[in-house]
Formats: sequence, structure tokens, C-alpha cells
Amino acid sequence: MPVRHTVQLGDPVIRLRAQEVADPVSPETQAIVQDLIDSMRADNLVGMAAPQIGESVRVIVTEIRSTIYREKSPEEFDAARVFINPEITHVSEKLVPDREGCGSVARAGIFADVPRPESVTVRAFDQKGESFELEADGLLARIIQHEVDHLDGVVFLDRVTDMRTLIGRDAVIAAQKKG
Ligand code: CO
Repeated sequence: MPVRHTVQLGDPVIRLRAQEVADPVSPETQAIVQDLIDSMRADNLVGMAAPQIGESVRVIVTEIRSTIYREKSPEEFDAARVFINPEITHVSEKLVPDREGCGSVARAGIFADVPRPESVTVRAFDQKGESFELEADGLLARIIQHEVDHLDGVVFLDRVTDMRTLIGRDAVIAAQKKG
């Protein structure tokens, strides 16, 4: 399946509310899921939402592994997950800040701290069309929230509360190389 170009901020599709998926197991949906996984991996991302490959539908994928932006320890790894029509049904009261970047903000090269609930419960359909519920915390919870935001036309920059945390891509990669 082809790796697709990551749509950048400024393209209207990034600001649209994406449509519900009518049939999670249709060939069209399955193709989007596969392209999304391939594109996420090719673009050094740990999560990606369908609007980022130009498909305004409610599909997100996650996969926690090392990237050029952040080294992960094996304990942090989390295999690829697919969420079709995801709904966040519960968030923790406690907010924690952590640095985020985004494939659709990558050309701009901006990263910044975003405060988000530390844990979430999400309900969705998987790639086989089965409904499931997942409780996530830490980095996975953050990625899920970031990607579900994309389905509502929201990017992480909208949620930055302290502009002094903004940092450029080169600095992020340089710090990563130093360890
Ligand atoms: Co993003």
C-alpha cells in the first residue's frame, strides 16, 4: 500500500470535522487504514489521523516506537493500534504537560508542550469491525487525544498554553542525538 504525502497545516482538510466511517470493514476503509499505518511509519510519527493523508474520515492509528524525534525504551513500545470512529468517553482530571509535534506541522518545524489529561478511556471499532474499549495512560493516552483532535479539526498548537515552550525541529533532533 502506498505511503501518502502528509498534508500540512493550511490545507483546509486539516480543519474539517471528519465524517463517521459507515463500514469499518469496507475495502475503502481498509485501504485508508493500511495507507495510514505505512505513512505514519514513513514519516517518523507515533500516531496519525486520516485527514493527514487527505481523507476526511474518523480513523486514527498509533504505534509507539523510536523515531528521529524521540528514542523509546522497549518497555514503552506499543504495537500498531487502529481506532475507527473513536470516542473518548472518559478523561482523568489531572492534566500533565509534555512536548508534542505533528506530521502536519512538521514543515513549520514547531514543537511545544501541551497539557492534557493523563489518562483516557476510548471506545472504537478495530480493523476487523469489532467494537472495543481501551483505558490508556501516559504517552499512549496523549497520542490518542492528539489524533482524535485531528478528527475534529484541532491541532496541538490550539492547545498550547505556554508559548515559551515552543521549540524548533532541529533543536528537538539535536537533543535526541545527544541522548
Ligand atoms: Co498531529
